[in-house]
Amino acid sequence: MQTLTIRRPDDWHVHLRDGDMLALVAPYTARQFGRAIVMPNLAPPVTSVAAAAAYRDRILAATAGLDFTPLMTAYLTDDSNPDEIERGRRDAVWIAAKLYPAGATTNSARGVTEIGRISRVLERMQAIGMPLLVHGEVTDPQVDTFDREAVFIDRILLKLLADFPALKVVFEHITTRQAAELVASDDFPNLAATITPQHLMLNRNALFDGGLRPHAYCLPVVKREEHRLAVRAAAVSSSPKFFLGTDSAPHVAAAKQSACGCAGLFNAPFAIEAYAQVFDEEGALDRLEGFASEHGPRFYGLALNPGQLTLERGGCAVPTAIGDVIPFGAGGHFAWRLSN
Ligand code: DOR
Ligand code: ZN
Repeated sequence: MQTLTIRRPDDWHVHLRDGDMLALVAPYTARQFGRAIVMPNLAPPVTSVAAAAAYRDRILAATAGLDFTPLMTAYLTDDSNPDEIERGRRDAVWIAAKLYPAGATTNSARGVTEIGRISRVLERMQAIGMPLLVHGEVTDPQVDTFDREAVFIDRILLKLLADFPALKVVFEHITTRQAAELVASDDFPNLAATITPQHLMLNRNALFDGGLRPHAYCLPVVKREEHRLAVRAAAVSSSPKFFLGTDSAPHVAAAKQSACGCAGLFNAPFAIEAYAQVFDEEGALDRLEGFASEHGPRFYGLALNPGQLTLERGGCAVPTAIGDVIPFGAGGHFAWRLSN
């Protein structure tokens, strides 16, 4: 197969940032994807309907002329109010809410300190069919960084799923065999997961490949090879519970190449190319469309995109920098490229 045409995909997890960074990065997402779920971890975070509506306007301005719909999210805090969360959904400002355990990742200081504090919000979300998007890592410093996702399943997620059996939950950017198995299980029909390019392509050796590699550092951190293989198998399994979410999370190079570097990879410029390479390597190109363009909208109860996107085999070269940001795969190639 030399070319592949699929329905226009969506990105079900992206960080578009704000200000100059938004202007730099948003067009890359909008070029490939019809829609994207935009993460709310700005500083200050997007906790109110008014803040989300204003942020959506800034994204639309940054992507003017491109056929792109940002889907906004609410940032849950200990003080989130069920009425405000419901109002944003009813007024079609946001479609989901994001749970950051406090301290788990970038701009999560105002996240939820204890899941019990948002039970009224979760009850309401369950009642109105509003998805909960979960950063699934415990923050307990006693827990090894590489185990934080698996421990989150045991300590928090299983109870959450039991307490709110009708709540739609997206386990974001899964990185482990345990997460892939949990999501695939028939026991949790309302549970789905996003999968990033980096967790399909890298294992934890990439962090230390000839030296410390800040541009392979994201959260949850990349794991052992056995986990990468399990996540790959899930992505190409054709299960509707797994879908595309890049977690593209740009930081300027200086913020990553530091004694305390930020977590996040900027993969938006060549995201669909990277996924296509993985599906090709797995002999599963025929399943890319489901993963990239169908499973997500079906989970969220949205229409599929009308347009199409064509990829062709042949290298696409990744620049060494885009503005002040180093993209995922910088200086290398992906095996597929977008046709014009
Ligand atoms: O690597 C990450 N970067 N993981 C996250 O959860 C947040 C993100 C960011 O906003 O930089
Ligand atoms: Zn993210």
